[in-house]
Amino acid sequence: MFWRFTTLFSLFAVATARPTRGLRKRAADPVLNETQILNFALTLEHLENAFYTLGLSEFDQDAFVKAGLPAFTRGRFEQIAEHEATHVQFLTEALGPDATAACNYSFPFTDPNSFVALASILENGGVSAYLGAAQFLSDKAHLTAAGSILTTEARQNAWIHSAVLKLEPWSRAFDTPLTFDQVFTLASGFIVSCPATNPVLPVKAFPSLAVVEAAPAPGSTIHLTFNSTTTAPTFLALFAGLNTTFVPITNATALLPTGLQGTVYGVVTTNGTAVSDDTTIAGVAVFDFAFPSQADN
Ligand SMILES: *[C@@H]1O[C@H](CO)[C@@H](O)[C@H](O)[C@H]1NC(C)=O
Ligand SMILES: *[C@@H]1O[C@H](CO)[C@@H](O)[C@H](O)[C@H]1NC(C)=O
Ligand SMILES: *[C@@H]1O[C@H](CO)[C@@H](O)[C@H](O)[C@H]1NC(C)=O
Ligand SMILES: *[C@@H]1O[C@H](CO)[C@@H](O)[C@H](O)[C@H]1NC(C)=O
Ligand SMILES: *[C@@H]1O[C@H](CO)[C@@H](O)[C@H](O)[C@H]1NC(C)=O
Ligand SMILES: *[C@@H]1O[C@H](CO)[C@@H](O)[C@H](O)[C@H]1NC(C)=O
Repeated sequence: MFWRFTTLFSLFAVATARPTRGLRKRAADPVLNETQILNFALTLEHLENAFYTLGLSEFDQDAFVKAGLPAFTRGRFEQIAEHEATHVQFLTEALGPDATAACNYSFPFTDPNSFVALASILENGGVSAYLGAAQFLSDKAHLTAAGSILTTEARQNAWIHSAVLKLEPWSRAFDTPLTFDQVFTLASGFIVSCPATNPVLPVKAFPSLAVVEAAPAPGSTIHLTFNSTTTAPTFLALFAGLNTTFVPITNATALLPTGLQGTVYGVVTTNGTAVSDDTTIAGVAVFDFAFPSQADN
């Protein structure tokens, strides 16, 4: 599985890591044209649409309540499912005959709680995907439409995380953009097969990166599982907001910086100062350094 979902119920000390600031280097990122970017977005919307359709068909209101979730939860998820279906319809109409079709998917949820946890990761991934793609859109109407979908997905995630899970509604002052290949790495873990007639997009998935600890705390040592043939030093690059923080990996272990909050993405790279697709050897892993929504700072 490509997603790593971890939760932690505590507050954190002031950051001590020395992050690089500003937009990340995108030099080796694939170049997608306008049609391909919209199809990339539609690929993700199809995935989300299928996810909600399947989850809501498997779990009825009784199942949600028996799982200990608030009674309002399932009804709101129906509304979110309608949003995703509308996003699919909107992008499909915008693309016309170029529109990519839905694939077959496999989602690892087994009950309403794991469905909700995965929903939150998917919504966060959607936000990071639209944020990362925004700089490549040239049509201003597309940019506005993408922005309008992005903020909706962010609101959906804020509701899932705070009203349902009683966790943080946001991560920090900035959300985190991901590259096309990083987003595709996350999405491809759920895609089984696609129609042969779908356009082939110039994106690739990186090999998997897993974190052994279920809920690692900032400032703690974590153990990583990934395949590597390189003899070069490796680093865990952590994406939080617009910052990237690098920590060295020794014998598959890394020391997390203190001060991490909310959703943070990690990849393994052979370059300890800049991330590019060329020097990424595994990941994306998803961390959630959660804090409660119903507590003082
Ligand atoms: C985008 O790239 C694809 C693949 O190269 C090509 O078939 C298509 O015509 C391009 N579309 C635009 C709008 O440039
Ligand atoms: C999805 O799976 C079904 C059943 O295995 C298969 O018949 C169909 O061709 C698959 N569709 C795609 C788009 O891969
Ligand atoms: C590492 O590679 C082996 C052989 O290809 C594979 O079976 C295994 O799943 C891989 N492990 C990870 C963490 O990617
Ligand atoms: C980058 O990290 C520093 C220190 O953790 C933080 O103060 C700052 O707000 C972050 N900036 C962005 C753009 O995420
Ligand atoms: C690397 O980790 C393994 C497994 O935890 C341990 O057995 C080994 O001694 C470690 N090697 C070094 C050089 O730290
Ligand atoms: C890391 O990437 C930066 C930016 O591309 C480059 O200047 C630097 O030489 C690279 N470092 C290594 C060790 O490859």
